[in-house]
Amino acid sequence: MLNLDASNHLLVLTGAGISAESGIPTFRDAGGLWEGNSVEDVASPAGFLRDPLLVWRFYSERRAAMEGVTPNAGHRALVDVERQLGDRFLLVTQNIDGLHGAAGSERVLELHGTLMRSRCTVCDRAPFEDRTAYRAGVAPMCGVCRRAGKDALLRPDIVWFGETIAAGALARIAEFVDRAGAGLRYLAVGTSGLVYPAAGLVDVVRARGGRSWLVNAERPVNAGSFDELALGPAGQVLPQLFA
Ligand SMILES: NC(=O)c1ccc[n+]([C@@H]2O[C@H](COP(=O)([O-])OP(=O)(O)OC[C@H]3O[C@@H](n4cnc5c(N)ncnc54)[C@H](O)[C@@H]3O)[C@@H](O)[C@H]2O)c1
Ligand SMILES: [Zn+2]
Repeated sequence: MLNLDASNHLLVLTGAGISAESGIPTFRDAGGLWEGNSVEDVASPAGFLRDPLLVWRFYSERRAAMEGVTPNAGHRALVDVERQLGDRFLLVTQNIDGLHGAAGSERVLELHGTLMRSRCTVCDRAPFEDRTAYRAGVAPMCGVCRRAGKDALLRPDIVWFGETIAAGALARIAEFVDRAGAGLRYLAVGTSGLVYPAAGLVDVVRARGGRSWLVNAERPVNAGSFDELALGPAGQVLPQLFA
């Protein structure tokens, strides 16, 4: 049980596991491979330089696979706690699927960007909503650059392996942790604890003396850093945790 009172702030980190029950496979489910390519190869700047068409085919498939996918009881349980806590709640997600927003979460920080947005690789136009699943072999080009007589590839607005997280996102987490002080509580859900800096958040909380909970289908590598473990599917465990 995660009991919260008026002295508590809750920081939540979610990973691919919270969306598994909505039908989106986690990377490790697929053995970390897509059509024989390692996911790190496809989701990286080097992979995009090498073969932008392959990378766009991968993300176009991810976009198409979101058709008809809806949030599950795990996403909804987090909306309910946020309604109780208001500004004493912050949800940090590594997911790019947008399901927390679709469920109704408002204080969400998408650490790794988002699938349904693209940006230009050359000009500084703002990232824009883009739900297009491009046809295989099509390399989407920037219309703004084209009007200026230049050819520039678009890319998904995602933070790839080897890229840095937006400084503003980390600053917002730091500000929340400072504001929480000794009342900080931390909950990680459906994340393997392998991808940094997200995997290190639990240690930041520990250093501040905050209690931490982990909800995951299996024991992850950093399980020992948490005070409480609840093993099981997030869609079943989360509603009980806050009951
Ligand atoms: N839905 C998405 O947006 C999505 C999907 C796949 C990968 N990714 C990206 O992959 C990277 C991988 O890191 P990660 O830690 O998020 O994912 P991961 O695939 O490394 O780990 C997922 C974890 O969730 C657990 N899990 C699986 N089903 C679960 C369930 N029903 N309930 C609770 N836990 C469950 C697994 O045991 C595993 O430990 C992230 O950067 C993320 O951006 C995102
Ligand atoms: Zn451009």
